[in-house]
Amino acid sequence: MAKPRVLSGIQPTGELHLGNYLGAIRNWVEIQQDYDSFLFMADLHAITVPQDPSQLAANTYQVAAMYLAAGIDLDYATIFVQSHIPAHSELAWLFSCITPLNWLQDMVQFKEKAIKQAENVGTGLLTYPVLQAADILLYEPDKVPVGEDQKQHLELTRDIAARLNYLYGQPDSPILKLPEPMIRAEGARVMSLSDGTKKMSKSDPSDLSRINLLDPPDQIQYKLKRCKTDSVRGLWFDDSERPECNNLLGLYMILSNQTKAAVAVECQEMGWGQFKPLLTDTVIAALKPIQDRYHEIVGEPGYLDSVLKQGREKAEAIAIPTLNKVKAALGYSVRA
Ligand code: TRP
Repeated sequence: MAKPRVLSGIQPTGELHLGNYLGAIRNWVEIQQDYDSFLFMADLHAITVPQDPSQLAANTYQVAAMYLAAGIDLDYATIFVQSHIPAHSELAWLFSCITPLNWLQDMVQFKEKAIKQAENVGTGLLTYPVLQAADILLYEPDKVPVGEDQKQHLELTRDIAARLNYLYGQPDSPILKLPEPMIRAEGARVMSLSDGTKKMSKSDPSDLSRINLLDPPDQIQYKLKRCKTDSVRGLWFDDSERPECNNLLGLYMILSNQTKAAVAVECQEMGWGQFKPLLTDTVIAALKPIQDRYHEIVGEPGYLDSVLKQGREKAEAIAIPTLNKVKAALGYSVRA
């Protein structure tokens, strides 16, 4: 029996941080043995906001190296670059012709980003979810592990697949399979070091708001020394008046592999002056093996190229037949 397939991706924009690791990559590592995993770098999505051309490829490689450093195992997973596989762009065009404009205008992420950019909103920001639907449906995954913020894009993906099936398929033999979302628990959300109510994010202008996976120990120490806290004595979880406290305790719990109950007892009487050094040591120790492996991987000449070449071949072997299936249904003559 073939294993069920999962597919997910991250945009290679800026450095990966603890939120990316704990919220996404670590979950992929945890489930990888039970699935046939397809993990990619969404470098076509990256340019929906301006990117420095001299950095784009390097960032893409950095993310690939980080997947491996964090424990993604090539025995279970295929790692590839979105732009290496033209089928993504091609299917996105076909989908855009069957996607009503108002479906895209209703996307929350589009509305938020469009407000931020005010004038000159790129068309790509609007059609971004159509490309995401192509990314997903090309591989006919069973599940798509993503964060809560991507739920709407997955619903749209299912809507596009259903519409294609309805317009061009037969009721008893759908063209595309509808994937199930695999939304991770809200608790896995890592919040900003500057504001415990906001998600830790690559797009926050302040680097002090996040811990990057490649931050050296002195940088981690500096950021945690400076991070926002409050003036209450004693530390506890789940107090809506103390979002920073909840976030930092949660980080400590996950990275020290302890239960919530154990951390609650350990920290109930601590002040920040005692807790922060403890958290700092824990973060540094948890990131050290990942950083060591990362440097090994990028230090081996040609290694990443070979991983991504192999990834491209395995991904294309699935993507191209799916693309051809859709093209044939729309009436194109498809070369054998
Ligand atoms: N939009 C996703 C994000 O910003 C990245 C992404 C692009 C993705 N294509 C995907 C995630 C396909 C899952 C599946 O996080």
